Amino acid sequence: MLSAPIVVSIAITSRCNLRCLHCSASAGEGLGVPDLGREEWLEVIRELARSHVFEIVLTGGEPLMVPWWVDIVKEAVRAGMRCSLNTNALMVTEAVVSVLRDIPGLGLITVSFDGDDRDSYESLRGQGTFERAVAGIKKLVNAGLRVRLFTVVSRLNVGRLHGIVENAKELGVDSIALNCFCPVSVGKRHEAKLSLSTDEEVRAYQVVYALRETFGSFLDGSFVSRALLYKKWEERHQGERLGPPARLGCGAGWTTVSIRPDGEIVPCDMMWDAPCGHVLRDGFAKVWRSSELLGRMRSLRNMTTADIEVCRRCRVNDLCSGGCRAVAWAHGDLFGGGHGCPIAAGVY
Ligand SMILES: C[S@@+](CC[C@H](N)C(=O)[O-])C[C@H]1O[C@@H](n2cnc3c(N)ncnc32)[C@H](O)[C@@H]1O
Ligand code: SF4
Ligand code: SF4
Repeated sequence: MLSAPIVVSIAITSRCNLRCLHCSASAGEGLGVPDLGREEWLEVIRELARSHVFEIVLTGGEPLMVPWWVDIVKEAVRAGMRCSLNTNALMVTEAVVSVLRDIPGLGLITVSFDGDDRDSYESLRGQGTFERAVAGIKKLVNAGLRVRLFTVVSRLNVGRLHGIVENAKELGVDSIALNCFCPVSVGKRHEAKLSLSTDEEVRAYQVVYALRETFGSFLDGSFVSRALLYKKWEERHQGERLGPPARLGCGAGWTTVSIRPDGEIVPCDMMWDAPCGHVLRDGFAKVWRSSELLGRMRSLRNMTTADIEVCRRCRVNDLCSGGCRAVAWAHGDLFGGGHGCPIAAGVY
């Protein structure tokens, strides 16, 4: 176990200017408990620095909603940590850009972007948002900042993947990640509208292979990984596995951890309903070392895909970690797997 995670994602506010249908952070609805304030977050930053955390990722809610977001970034940089930002970019003004440009060692700015035209974007993020997001992205790119787009693939945009990636190229960003939708929190309520059927998922994989051929590593993300894995599965014959079954688990609890707006430490951004202890009341280092749930996240590494019934005989189970742990948790079994996987569904 590392003495501290490498990257800590901190959701500095539950407030948000949007009400996206998929939101894992229940933004705008809150957690029923107050968010930490400026002074408390500054103390959190100092605590993370004392624990030798390498990088913090500012997220939320929408981090630019709180006027003191920049104080948090400056404190992190002063304490020697790298700092990155997740934003919907609607509140990116010239003033925001000039603050960001002056931050030494600023990491990636990840901007959510889930459509290539007004309809596909606004069906998820709400009316009157598309042009403002594009304007924000252009400001960041024009200032020479490193921007990565983050697209959640859902029923609302699955027919637009080509346009989304081409548009990203035209906008001049560094890369784009196509990521899987995680049916949690607000997103759980809209699962029927957002989750791909197995057919839609497999058809989308074909589109993604073609896009990878054209755009190479400009395009990545968990949905792309899933598509590439599926291609391997199609190419291999039963028994052609090249290695032993892969270990379960991901970086959550190993190299990364997240902090909710109220200060509760959670394994990842998609597991806000899994509090492990409070960053200030219990202490970051103590929770990292002794939380029972973080311990269980780590113990996944002692298991392999052979320990999951639906994955045991899969011919790519040497390349796959059995699926997302947040989704397994949402299904009530942290040690389960294969959720949302067309191969596990046995349809193909
Ligand atoms: C919770 S938002 C916070 C930052 C900012 N408000 C934004 O939208 O970029 C962080 C990222 O998580 C993504 N996200 C939200 N809900 C999700 C879900 N259910 N599954 C996968 N990604 C999700 C968003 O699209 C966004 O890119
Ligand atoms: S995904 Fe981001 S922008 Fe959308 S509601 Fe959630 S926090 Fe707000
Ligand atoms: S069946 Fe299991 S091991 Fe195979 S691809 Fe699906 S989740 Fe991965």
